[in-house]
Amino acid sequence: MSNLLSIKAALQMASAQLKTEESVFEVQLLLQYALGVNRTWLIAHEHDALQPNIHEVFEALLNRRLAGEPMAHILASREFYGLDLLVTPDTLIPRPDTETLVDAALEKLPTGATPLPSSFSRDREGLSILDLGTGTGAIALAIAHNCPQVMLVAVDASAPALAVAKQNAAQLNIPNVTFVLSDWFDVLAGKRFDLIVSNPPYIEQNDAHLVQGDLRFEPISALASGVDGLDDIRHIVEHCLIYLKPQGWLMLEHGYNQADAVTNLMAQVGLVEIETRKDLGGNDRVTIGKNPLIVSTHWD
Ligand SMILES: C[S@@+](CC[C@H](N)C(=O)[O-])C[C@H]1O[C@@H](n2cnc3c(N)ncnc32)[C@H](O)[C@@H]1O
Repeated sequence: MSNLLSIKAALQMASAQLKTEESVFEVQLLLQYALGVNRTWLIAHEHDALQPNIHEVFEALLNRRLAGEPMAHILASREFYGLDLLVTPDTLIPRPDTETLVDAALEKLPTGATPLPSSFSRDREGLSILDLGTGTGAIALAIAHNCPQVMLVAVDASAPALAVAKQNAAQLNIPNVTFVLSDWFDVLAGKRFDLIVSNPPYIEQNDAHLVQGDLRFEPISALASGVDGLDDIRHIVEHCLIYLKPQGWLMLEHGYNQADAVTNLMAQVGLVEIETRKDLGGNDRVTIGKNPLIVSTHWD
């Protein structure tokens, strides 16, 4: 009789060791990864014996998770807005909260054969969108995938992050995003966009969470932004009108307690129709504002 563990027993033992909130789900993902199979296969074969070579790989993955490494780094992947994205330690791990920002952007944009909303300019260049601080490319690629007729520019100050974003665009076969290395707007002189979206760093630099959980494995340059967490948001808001087309929108993700500050910053530079959207957890997460300028020749 074989003394090899069954898949089910290996999963139960691993889950008891891990003790995270989602340990059952996580150990399944780790074993799926080790075996190169999907969840349906794993469940259908739970009474199969786990071969020693696979068991060894599984234990190595489990040990990384026990040491606190994020699942997205171990699996080198995270799903965002239905897209499977490559994730590395050079990039922020895309968060479900950021889907609120994509929803807000798509609301203002034509998808498929939908006609252009009357609140957008129709110029010879067509609709253009800027994603500031693109990381894995999550936001830009989600928008581009849903609006193939729209052109996007996605910038990041991190060359390794941009390389990951480009790899994601190629892997997903999404052609309508151009990736540019830039310190925020620095290389965009003379360019104007219908929509500027950003999930910039917005955590206070002394926030204790930066050295806890998944955050300690992510680049600090993707997370922290000065004493009050608002340095990058301030910079983006203060410069946005130079780069927004008339009636164009600025949409920013921010901390759950930063909506009033972001609203005030947007109001100070003259943006209008400012409103805050909540994430799935019910927290204030995204604030949007519109360039009030109207150039009659660009409008219906
Ligand atoms: C919070 S992460 C967001 C990543 C991605 N957009 C997402 O939502 O998953 C912020 C991103 O801003 C980039 N960043 C930080 N400072 C920047 C700067 N001065 N100019 C451009 N990008 C910057 C970081 O490298 C990081 O990729």
